[in-house]
Amino acid sequence: MLAETPSLRAMHWSDLPAVHAMEVECFRHDPWTVEAFWSELAQVPDTRWYAVMCVGQEIVGYAGVMVVGADADVQTIAVAPKVQGQGLGAALLQALHDHARQRGASRIFLEVRDDNASALALYDTQGYERTGVRTNYYAPGASAIVMMKSLAGAL
Ligand SMILES: CC(C)(COP(=O)(O)OP(=O)(O)OC[C@H]1O[C@@H](n2cnc3c(N)ncnc32)[C@H](O)[C@@H]1OP(=O)(O)O)[C@@H](O)C(=O)NCCC(=O)NCCS
Repeated sequence: MLAETPSLRAMHWSDLPAVHAMEVECFRHDPWTVEAFWSELAQVPDTRWYAVMCVGQEIVGYAGVMVVGADADVQTIAVAPKVQGQGLGAALLQALHDHARQRGASRIFLEVRDDNASALALYDTQGYERTGVRTNYYAPGASAIVMMKSLAGAL
């Protein structure tokens, strides 16, 4: 159980040490480098939006989205292992959807490793549909499932 209600705010440069530590914990196969996060944040607000989920001062999740025209892409999403399974991933994803809609996107895409059961379950519950497979996308034997969700509807 969470000690207090989590809150969402924009990711700052100063969050990167904590965010990167969680990245390494959550993405054992191929974590982003700190430089990759710097590159992403450099594109805020033009084409990117990144948010962190906090409990008190502690960052317990983060996510980012790219919006270009009518299309958006989930760039990354992660929740600290100790608080997974409590709805934070769904809340982060819905925040990305809301932001993308406000920026005029009508659909959002993502790629997910075909063996990532928890992420696939999250995307299924959030209304994503499987639109394709990119064989060996991450590494030999590690394919990506491409998913898409329509963002049409009320803001
Ligand atoms: C994927 C991830 C972000 C999900 O975050 P989370 O906070 O645990 O997810 P939630 O608690 O919001 O769960 C949302 C839905 O997904 C489903 N789900 C999440 N984890 C699941 C699991 N391990 N097994 C089965 N279903 C799962 C739940 O059933 C839930 O649906 P429900 O509310 O209808 O029951 C988290 O597991 C994570 O950070 N994984 C490591 C990083 C990662 O793989 N990111 C995705 C890269 S594509």
